Amino acid sequence: MSFLTVTYALLFYVATAVLIGGLIYRIRLYARTPAPLKIPTMPAPTTQTGVVLRMAREVVFFESLFKSNKWIWIFGWMFHFALVLVLMRHLRYFTEPVWTWVALIQPFGKYAGFAMVAGLAGLWARRIVVERIRYISQPSDHLMLALLLAIGLSGLTMKYVAHTDIVSLKAFILGLMYFDWQPLPPDPVLVIHLSLVIVLMLVFPISKLLHAPGVFFSPTRNQVDDSRDHRHLAPWAAKLESTGK
Ligand code: HEM
Repeated sequence: MSFLTVTYALLFYVATAVLIGGLIYRIRLYARTPAPLKIPTMPAPTTQTGVVLRMAREVVFFESLFKSNKWIWIFGWMFHFALVLVLMRHLRYFTEPVWTWVALIQPFGKYAGFAMVAGLAGLWARRIVVERIRYISQPSDHLMLALLLAIGLSGLTMKYVAHTDIVSLKAFILGLMYFDWQPLPPDPVLVIHLSLVIVLMLVFPISKLLHAPGVFFSPTRNQVDDSRDHRHLAPWAAKLESTGK
């Protein structure tokens, strides 16, 4: 087994553990954070079903972003939608036999790589060109965009410029999953793509990318407008009240 294979196999295990462990830790923290006040952004749904629908519109269409800024919405939605397609397309490297629906979306996923890169380029241009946004942009805002852009560009390079050995790569990935290690093809572009993905997995649980799970815990979006029907008590406050302390 080559040094490259062993190194990347171990790196993938560590990165996966950090990503999953980190996300569980963060999500538990979000779930336990008290929301003492009723603060849904108005107009807000008056039923739980309404909240589910509102959240679905937010997650699928980025509704509130659409209402506030059309340019960021276009680039942001294009990037996220394309990312979902690209990731679904990548499932073929992790499954044998490949599921039918994954095979069916392959042609769309292929072009989604370009949409993903275009969306990221637009979002980055905004941080550089719009003075107000440039002023409030942190180095990490730029770094996250650079990282995602570099992953997209290295992926597109493999797809359209310097093809990689997909069959061996798939054997490597399946080997990691079944603890039966297979050699990683020593292709420079592939190694760059995978290294950047490992960095992404490691930083995800300490980055702004946590907005992905975080949006579900936003009190301004997930609360029902029923403050005139029910007294709102955060669970921790209810516990204090019932024990009389
Ligand atoms: C372990 C994880 C990953 C592996 C093994 C992997 C592998 C690959 C390979 C082999 C290609 C070339 C496809 C071809 O020639 O047909 C590719 C393309 C691409 N990858 Fe990845 N990748 C991974 C994760 C990611 C992630 C997390 C992203 C995005 C954040 C990403 C974005 C892309 C893009 C945009 C393309 C070009 C479009 C496409 O072929 O779908 N990859 N990837």
